[in-house]
Amino acid sequence: MDLAGVYDNPQYYEIAFSFRDIPAEVDVFEECFKRFSQIPVKSVLELGCGNSPHMEELIKRGYQYSGLDLSKAMLEYSREKALRIGAEVNLIHGDMVDFSLETEVDFVYVLLGSLAAKNTSEQTTHFDSVANVLKKGGLYLLDWCVQDDPPWVSESGGNWVLEREGIQVKTTVLWKAINPVEQTFEETLSMEVNDHGEKLNIVGKEIKRAIYPQEFLCFISASKHFEFVGWWNNWDLRQPLEQANKFDRPIALVRRI
Ligand SMILES: C[S@@+](CC[C@H](N)C(=O)[O-])C[C@H]1O[C@@H](n2cnc3c(N)ncnc32)[C@H](O)[C@@H]1O
Repeated sequence: MDLAGVYDNPQYYEIAFSFRDIPAEVDVFEECFKRFSQIPVKSVLELGCGNSPHMEELIKRGYQYSGLDLSKAMLEYSREKALRIGAEVNLIHGDMVDFSLETEVDFVYVLLGSLAAKNTSEQTTHFDSVANVLKKGGLYLLDWCVQDDPPWVSESGGNWVLEREGIQVKTTVLWKAINPVEQTFEETLSMEVNDHGEKLNIVGKEIKRAIYPQEFLCFISASKHFEFVGWWNNWDLRQPLEQANKFDRPIALVRRI
């Protein structure tokens, strides 16, 4: 089983992950552009864009949006969203582990730990692909892609309930170790949905690979395409990750050289 079941239900996925303050997160993008980008930013690419939660806000602020995803259902959902707001966007069906684009972009981002590389060689092809589509001097922002402890040790998982327009979604996340040497673990995501009385239980499982901070730094410093810029806890540029007791949605920023 993979997470397809979850990603085949973009409307419920969107409710489940609607705890984010999207305008505030786009403010953080823009603060990064101002402080750290060496090129002006007009075009952005979201990897594993799914339902493209930041698309509308980015378009409102004048950016050209591209999103890449493996799930056709998610891409269709984003396409309809763009149509509703009359925006022209570029939604691409592809695998972030190894991809290419026709034109380069000024900024790339991946959210909620969606970096899909399951081993070092996939991580290498992923970063090579990003290097091929990102202009020199441009930034790549990774949200929650670097771990402090193995998730299965520090967390037992968690659950939360969110509701929108009469649809309630209870989301549960669980982690289980698969192989400590390969740093792989299984993530189970369940959504218990109550859609105006109709009840559904949607479950997906995915193998993920943890990346630890010093390993990330080594990987980036060995790369001929990227340099490390910084990392911060909780999407707050006043909280360098070095000062964090516990990672909570850390963002890491690298720049194309
Ligand atoms: C956790 S969701 C994130 C969606 C959205 N970016 C957000 O912030 O809510 C992960 C997304 O990554 C996509 N995905 C998973 N593996 C992928 C891969 N190898 N290449 C491209 N997209 C992938 C899934 O289809 C899903 O839409």
